[in-house]
Amino acid sequence: MSEVVSRVGVVGAGQMGGGIAEVSARAGADVLVWEATEELAAGGRARILKSLDRAVSSGKITERERDQAAERLKFTTDLADFADRQLVVEAIVENEAVKAEIFGKLDEVVTDPDAVLASNTSSLPIQRIATATKNPGRVLGLHFFNPVPVLPLVEVISSLSTSEAAAARAEQFASEVLGKQVVRATDRSGFIVNALLVPYLLSAIRMYESGFATAEDIDKGMMLGCAHPMGPLKLADLVGLDTVKFIADAMYAEYKEPTYAAPPLLLRLVEAGYVGKKSGRGIYEYP
Ligand code: CAA
Ligand code: NAD
Repeated sequence: MSEVVSRVGVVGAGQMGGGIAEVSARAGADVLVWEATEELAAGGRARILKSLDRAVSSGKITERERDQAAERLKFTTDLADFADRQLVVEAIVENEAVKAEIFGKLDEVVTDPDAVLASNTSSLPIQRIATATKNPGRVLGLHFFNPVPVLPLVEVISSLSTSEAAAARAEQFASEVLGKQVVRATDRSGFIVNALLVPYLLSAIRMYESGFATAEDIDKGMMLGCAHPMGPLKLADLVGLDTVKFIADAMYAEYKEPTYAAPPLLLRLVEAGYVGKKSGRGIYEYP
C-alpha cells in the first residue's frame, strides 16, 4: 500500500471543511485549506481556532497541542497549491456542477497518481463526480459527520471506477490517522446514514408544518422517548436547512419516492435565508 497520508488538502472551510481540517491537523497532518476568497479563508480559520480553544477548555487537548495543530494549518485561494497533496477532501456546497468543476481542476493539479481525491458529499453519487476527472480510479467518497471533532464515523464510498488501492488508502487515513470508525457504503444517494436519517428529518419537518405538535415537543419526544442526543428539528438546523434541501433533492432525483421530497416549509425557510444555526435562524432562533 502507498505511504500513510500526511499531506492533506481540504476544499472549503465551512462547518464540515473546517471540522475535517481541524481533526486532520490535531492528528499531526500538514493541512492546506482552500477557500474562494481571503475573507472566507479568514472566517474559516477563526472558526477552527475557536473550536481548538473549545477542545482546550474541555480538557481534550493541551494549549501546546492546540498551538501545534494551528501551526499545521495553512490557507490558500489557489487550488494549484494542492499539487503535492496525498489526499484532498472536498467539502463545499452540495451542488453537483460546483463539485464537478472543482474535481476537474484538482485532477489537473494533484500530481501524485496515488493521491486520493475525496468528496464529503452527503448525497451526490460519486460516479458522477468522478466522471469530471481523467482519473476516476482515485476519486471516492469520504463522508464525515457533524460536528466532525465529536462524531466517530466516516463512510467510505467507492464508485464503480474507484480503485481498491485508493479506497484502502482513504480508509487507512480515516481509521489509523484520525482514529475514526469506518463503514463502507455503496454508491447510492445518501449512502448508509443519510438514506435513513434524511427521510426522518423531512418527516419531522412535515409533522411540524402540519401543526401536529410544536417544534419543542417533537424534539423533546425523540430526545426523551428514544434517547437521541438531539431532536430532528434541532438537528436539521445544525446540518443546515439549505444542505438538508440539497440532500433531499439529490435523493428524490435518485429514488423518485415522496419520502425524499423537500416539504414546502423547508423550501420557504431556505428561500428566506433562514438556513439554521449557521445563519442565526432556521426552525429555531439562535440569538
Ligand atoms: N465542535 C467541536 N466539539 C463540539 C461541538 C462542535 N461544533 N459541539 C459540541 N462539541 C463537544 C463539546 O465540546 C462537548 O465535549 P466534552 O464532552 O468533551 O465537553 C461535547 O461535544 C458535548 O457538547 P455539549 O455539552 O456542548 O452539547 P451536547 O451534549 O448537546 O452535544 C452535540 C452537542 C455533540 C452536537 C450532540 O447533541 C450530538 O451529537 N447531536 C447529534 C449530531 C448528529 O446527529 N450529527 C449527524 C448529522 S448528519 C451528518 O453529519 C451527515 C450529513 O451528511 C448531513
Ligand atoms: P457550509 O454551508 O458550512 O459550507 C459551504 C462551503 O462551500 C463553504 O466553504 C463555502 O465557501 C463553499 N461554497 C459555497 N458555494 C461555493 C461555490 N459556488 N464554489 C466554491 N465553494 C463554494 O456547508 P457544510 O455543512 O460544510 O457542507 C459542505 C459539504 O459537506 C456538503 O457537500 C454537505 O452535503 C456535506 N456534509 C454536510 C454535513 C452537515 O451536517 N452540514 C455533514 C456531512 C457532509
